[in-house]
Amino acid sequence: MIISNSFRDRILSKIAFLQKQKINSTSNYWNISYEQGIFLSNLVDFKKPKSVLEIGTSNGFSGLWLNLNLDESSKYTTVEVDKTRYELAKVNFEQVGLKNFICVNSDALKFLEGISEKFDFVFVDAGHCLYQNILDLLVDGKLLTKNSVVIFDNVTSHSQLEDFVKNILKKYDSELIKIGGGMLVVYF
Ligand SMILES: C[S@@+](CC[C@H](N)C(=O)[O-])C[C@H]1O[C@@H](n2cnc3c(N)ncnc32)[C@H](O)[C@@H]1O
Repeated sequence: MIISNSFRDRILSKIAFLQKQKINSTSNYWNISYEQGIFLSNLVDFKKPKSVLEIGTSNGFSGLWLNLNLDESSKYTTVEVDKTRYELAKVNFEQVGLKNFICVNSDALKFLEGISEKFDFVFVDAGHCLYQNILDLLVDGKLLTKNSVVIFDNVTSHSQLEDFVKNILKKYDSELIKIGGGMLVVYF
């Protein structure tokens, strides 16, 4: 596994900078919490994915956490519909020296409908009303590898997702992690 210490240091200082900026800013990027960042980076460390997909990049905050323990040879793809946040994320990734990443400025459903590439780690943090559609596209479109993991964020903070969560917990090997807005982790 190759991750240079200086690269990790640059990611951690960018995370600290964005955390501080959040406190002093009027802009809201709806970033995951520090605790959730630790959880995601530990899960990456544990699963050692080869191809990570994120839906809902925002300014790249969660993307930085996802890349903290990601092997340099692995690929990270992230999708954001908003042009300003997409541009901001690209700058943040470039500033820490992230190389193996693809930042896509698109609607997530359109993106998923148009690809055939497979992923082994997916973090979904956008448009909670799209969660079922996103899951269907991932599963029916055969975009997930064997032993992949999909994490849906904000599943307890949005009461509209109650049935979605119940169905997933019944149908799949999955667990609800009660941090941040609630993270639903689904194992395939
Ligand atoms: C909760 S924020 C993501 C926060 C980010 N994951 C983080 O923690 O740093 C949700 C983001 O998803 C984007 N989004 C919403 N609907 C989308 C869609 N249909 N396709 C792609 N991105 C979408 C929003 O523009 C917003 O920037």
